[in-house]
Amino acid sequence: MAELCLVASDVDGTVGGAIRYWPVAIGETRAPALLLGPVAVHPTHQGEGLGGLLIRESMALAKDLGWTRVILVGDAPYYRRFGFAKADFLQFPPPTNPDRLLYHPLTEGAFDGVSGKIAKAVQD
Ligand SMILES: CC(C)(COP(=O)(O)OP(=O)(O)OC[C@H]1O[C@@H](n2cnc3c(N)ncnc32)[C@H](O)[C@@H]1OP(=O)(O)O)[C@@H](O)C(=O)NCCC(=O)NCCS
Repeated sequence: MAELCLVASDVDGTVGGAIRYWPVAIGETRAPALLLGPVAVHPTHQGEGLGGLLIRESMALAKDLGWTRVILVGDAPYYRRFGFAKADFLQFPPPTNPDRLLYHPLTEGAFDGVSGKIAKAVQD
């Protein structure tokens, strides 16, 4: 997943924000998906659009690399602007508030027929 782990830094190298992903498998078919998180922006840079930039850039990159599904555990009021919605059809290992489990298809219909438990994928 190194190719999707992005760091935003100033010209002097000071880190302003970062994002990373984990490969996961969904359901009995072990449908491949990306788990987004954590994404974090330094408090002095929050609200400047850096989080949005990191999320959009990395998801575009993920799509270019052939990924079709992204999930995360987070605040729907923030993530819905990027196309995420509540994933009632998925189960994340506890302790997780199911209301915070969100999904976003990178291609149309990518979650059609996909449901069940989210498990760790074998990382190459
Ligand atoms: C969440 C986080 C990554 C957003 O990054 P950011 O660069 O500040 O976000 P952006 O500048 O792209 O977007 C800012 C907007 O998001 C909103 N926002 C930020 N966090 C939010 C949240 N948890 N719920 C709802 N809205 C949120 C802001 O109010 C702002 O709204 P506006 O555009 O209407 O003014 C950043 O605030 C952060 O690092 N928070 C602490 C760590 C964290 O909670 N990470 C996410 C869980 S892994």
